[in-house]
This record gives sequence, structure tokens and C-alpha cells, in this order.
Amino acid sequence: MGRQVFFQEKIIVIDFGGQYNQLVARRVRECNVYCEIYSYRTDLDKIKELKPKGIILTGGPNSCYEKGAPTCTKELFELGIPVLGLCYGAQLMMHVLGGTVERAPVREYGKTEVFVEQTSPLFADVSPSTVCWMSHFDYISKTAPGFTVTAHTADCPVAAAEDRKRQLYAIQFHPEVLHTQEGTKMLHNFVRSVCGCAGTWRMDSFVEHAIAEIREKVGDGKVLCGLSGGVDSSVAAVLLSKAVGDQLTCVFVDHGLLRKNEGDEVEEVFGPNGPYELNFVRVNAQDRFYVKLAGVTEPEEKRKIIGEEFIRVFEEEAKKIGAVEFLVQGTIYPDVVESGLGGESAVIKSHHNVGGLPDYVDFKEIIEPLRNLFKDEVRKAGLELGIPEKLVYRQPFPGPGLGIRIIGDVTAEKVRIVQDADAIYREEIAKAGLDKSIGQYFAVLTNMRSVGVMGDERTYDYAVALRAVNTVDFMTAESAEVPFAVLQTVMSRIINEVRGVNRIFYDLTSKPPGTIEFE
Ligand code: XMP
Repeated sequence: MGRQVFFQEKIIVIDFGGQYNQLVARRVRECNVYCEIYSYRTDLDKIKELKPKGIILTGGPNSCYEKGAPTCTKELFELGIPVLGLCYGAQLMMHVLGGTVERAPVREYGKTEVFVEQTSPLFADVSPSTVCWMSHFDYISKTAPGFTVTAHTADCPVAAAEDRKRQLYAIQFHPEVLHTQEGTKMLHNFVRSVCGCAGTWRMDSFVEHAIAEIREKVGDGKVLCGLSGGVDSSVAAVLLSKAVGDQLTCVFVDHGLLRKNEGDEVEEVFGPNGPYELNFVRVNAQDRFYVKLAGVTEPEEKRKIIGEEFIRVFEEEAKKIGAVEFLVQGTIYPDVVESGLGGESAVIKSHHNVGGLPDYVDFKEIIEPLRNLFKDEVRKAGLELGIPEKLVYRQPFPGPGLGIRIIGDVTAEKVRIVQDADAIYREEIAKAGLDKSIGQYFAVLTNMRSVGVMGDERTYDYAVALRAVNTVDFMTAESAEVPFAVLQTVMSRIINEVRGVNRIFYDLTSKPPGTIEFE
């Protein structure tokens, strides 16, 4: 079967709970090598069964010599499979194999100059002195028997060590972090040269195999997909449509809280005049949502109402379609890992859509075609599938939509105001060439009204807030420095063109203490 061949070449990342662990997997995939994350609790037999071409042990917050610290068996290093230990993983490798790890006299944190031996396969083509990201309080004071030191820093005698015969490599710093200038090269050296991976993980072959696999699974069954217009559900829908054509029905619920023209844009791509031959159902449920939201001001309550109503509308449509064999979900790999199903990272969020089966649709099985992909890979797959760039690079948009970008109660009139203001803001940001560099940006309708003057008339209108943030992971964020001239243009356009607005604010708050959304 295709899947076997496709996934044959695999690296596994064993997760000891460090903060950069998903990043390790992403960097490996950037070397065109498929890679999965497993908890350090995973059985050795399971690891053997996976037949990895290489194993990477990640960092972690513990001290390996402490009682109860996460560990691994000695046999892991005796499988004949190359192992690379990073930070905690490096220390653990030494500890388990007979070296010494102890509290370092000097804690290293941040960018650090590291002197490497270029004769090491890990450091081939790496500069002899290179900047790396360090973050450790323990250090390897004595390497395990058989190891030679291949890198050091001013404060750290063993920044890297290796036993080339046994194909065991340990590095104290974090090659996966971009601050490590030549980190990608080092990981590339490990997976491609040491482990001998050919680098066949590419999105074009992913797409081809995913389509074949879906066809095999679905046969002539009926498939239902909830489409939001977001990247993940769009890519999942197109994959399914390429695989099974009109056996697929996509339901797109327009809750009246989308950005300006967004409903039509989704319909243009997926509707009857678009390039795909799927059954597309657009439900214009705006009024239902506005009625339910009337007079509700508390943000959490608004979210709850929107979520529940959304399910209700979807359920009604699903009933009209009747029983289906399969339901598609746009789950992606970080959802899987963060749900505690992949690695060791504490359960950060419980994703209702991972593993859990919604009970309001009559179906037999869930299809999650993007379950193994990171976001950037989903985007690449989207481009492979010919989905318009505009959709593929769409910025994140919350499920409850503008409902949570309108402070206070939601009305059709307020939705119109925030849609128009937001459209102008987005247009000007794009015109200034900033649309690809800012993480997320949008307009918010504050509930504040104040006195202004326009022409000769006194006004008493709303204030719109503009938000723009830069962020790596959406867990923290900083307000973006949008040039003042751009903000001024946006300000005057919104006030001139959007009825009901007479004042504009720019939100400077970072996250924390703020959130990215402004509700
Ligand atoms: P906050 O406001 O929590 O947002 O800093 C972090 C990121 O999550 C997005 N967000 C949501 N996405 N449903 C979603 O699908 C939601 O209810 C939701 N709330 C916030 C937000 O746009 C930002 O990218």
C-alpha cells in the first residue's frame, strides 16, 4: 500500500516536555523528512515497530539525575538507529550511558558563541565558530565512555559530543531555534547524512497519496464537510473533493459575523461556479444569529450562543442530507500534539475536534486528512491543490467571528460598521505592502460613542479600534509598528467612508496582558 512506502522514511522525536519540541519536528520536516512526536513514556517495542531512520531526544525542564525525572532505557541507544540528544536529551544520553551530568557553575542562557569541530558529520559545512541558542543550568561534566567532545563554549566544556561508531550524537544547545544560526544545517546533517534519509517528504507527494488513501477508504460512500472558509477546512475540503468529487457535500454556514464579502468569496471558490465539483450548501443564517445575540453583552455568553447556534444550523442541514458515512474534520498536527495524543507537551488545550465524535450528525467515521501536517505544510498542500493564495495565506479568524470584535451587544448595523472599517484597514495594509509581514490585524468596534464634528455638524458616533500584532505562536504577541502615515490614511478613510464612526484608536497592548482579540 502507498502509505507504507510513503511513510517508510521517518524520524521520531521523543518528547521530554521541552518548550521547543514541535519546532524540532517542524525543522526536520523542512529537511523533507517525515517526522512524528512521541512521549518519552512510549514503549521501546513500539519505537522499534515504527522503524525510524533516526531518533531525536528533545529538551525538557528536569534534571536527569533527579529521582523521578523523565528517562529512557539504555536499549534505546543499542538499536543501531542513530540518536541525537538535544539539551536535556543530550544530558540524558550521557547520564544513561555512564557520563556525568551536574549543576553547571555558570548557567548559560541566550545566544552563545560555540566552537565546533568541523570533522563531526553533524557540523559538516558549519562555521568553526557559530552562534547557538543555549538554555541550561545543568551541564555534562564528563562524557560517557566512547564519546569525544565536538563542540565547546567559554563556559561549557561539552557543548556537543559524539560516538560515531554507535551513531550517537549529543548537543547541549537548541538547533531547532532560529537563534541558532546554523541549526537547520545541523539537523539537515543529522537526518540526511547520519540517518541517510533521502528527503522524499514533499507536499506534492502528500497530496497524491492522501487522495489515493481517501479514495480507498471512502469507496462510494457519502462524505460531509463543514466549511468555514478558513485554511484548514478549505484544504481538507479540496482534498476530499479531488478524491471523491460529488460524493462530498460541504456545508458553509454564514452566521452574519464574517468579514466583508467573505461569504461570497467562499462561495466563489467552492460554489457551483467554482473549480470544484462538490455539492456546496451555503446557509444564510445571519438573522437567526442576530436574533439570538440581541441584547447580549457578555463576551463569553456571546461566544456560547454563537457556538451553539452554529451547531444547530449545521445539524439541521446535515439532517436534510441524511445519513452519511464520513464526516471530515480539519484537525492538524499541533491539535493532535496539544491534545496530549502525540508528544509529552502538557495538555494545553483540549481540542473538541480531536478524537471526539460530534453526536449531532449521523455518520460512521471521521476523516482527518490533515492530521499529520503542520500549519505551514497545510498551506503548501493548499497551493499544490490550486487553492487561491488569498485563501491559503488568510490570517486567522476566530470561529465566533465579528461577534467577538464588537464590544457590547451585536446588531446588524454594528456588523456593517466593523466590516466596512476592517475592509478599509486591510486594503490599506495591503497597499502599504505590510499584509504578509504582520501576524494578525483587524478592526474592532468599541462600544464607546463620543462627540465629534463633521462638516458643520455635531456627531455622536462610535470609536473603532485598530489592532495589529506580531506573534510567533499566538500565545504571546506584540503590537506591530504600523507606520503613522498608514494609520492616518486608514483613520481618514474610515471616518469619511463608514457612517457611524467619528473616532479611531490604535491598540498598543501586547499579549500578555491583553489578548489578541479585543472583546
Ligand atoms: P487571543 O484573543 O486568545 O487569540 O489572544 C489567540 C488567537 O486565537 C484566535 N481566536 C480564536 N480562534 N475560535 C478560533 O478559531 C475562537 O473562538 C478564537 N478566539 C481567538 C485569535 O484570532 C488569535 O489568532
